[in-house]
Amino acid sequence: MTMKLLLSEKRIQQRVGDLARQISKDFAGRELLLVGILKGAFIFMADLARKIKGPVKIDFVRVASYGSGTCSSGKIRFTKDIEVSLKGKDVLIVEDIIDTGVTLKFLRRCLRARRPRSLAVVTLLDKPSRRKVPFQADYTGFQIPDHFVVGYGLDCAEEYRNLRGIYIVK
Ligand code: IMP
Ligand code: MG
Repeated sequence: MTMKLLLSEKRIQQRVGDLARQISKDFAGRELLLVGILKGAFIFMADLARKIKGPVKIDFVRVASYGSGTCSSGKIRFTKDIEVSLKGKDVLIVEDIIDTGVTLKFLRRCLRARRPRSLAVVTLLDKPSRRKVPFQADYTGFQIPDHFVVGYGLDCAEEYRNLRGIYIVK
């Protein structure tokens, strides 16, 4: 297996800073509830949360797709739900990467039903060419081509999440 650098630590940190500035501006004067999707989003979430100006609360959700492999199947379920009520809150879902779009389409529909004041999605990475269902995030860090990537929270069989950059694996 070979690994090729796609996004350096410096580029990622700069872009996370841009996203945090935009989000801070859009939600100025409001309290945000960040909902991170485990496990991949944990590092992005930690950096983003610390760069956002203003009050932030955090929670996590974990979803699993039925079936296995690197291809997301059509159905997903909660294996860990959010622990607080979303009613009346400004909620920002934090995702590492959008691939087929199935996970976020399902999750956004479920969370919208809980009547938040607003519901938006930020993703660090987006592979638009892989969509099976139409989905667009409100904030996107980088659009990337159709490669499998690891690092900065993203894994391949649970490895490489702690790398500071993002790498293409082949
Ligand atoms: P989807 O958009 O429902 O297909 O699911 C996206 C999820 O698949 C992400 O949250 C990741 O957990 C995983 N995933 C998709 N592409 C990659 C990749 O290139 N590297 C690591 N995980 C990925
Ligand atoms: Mg994920």
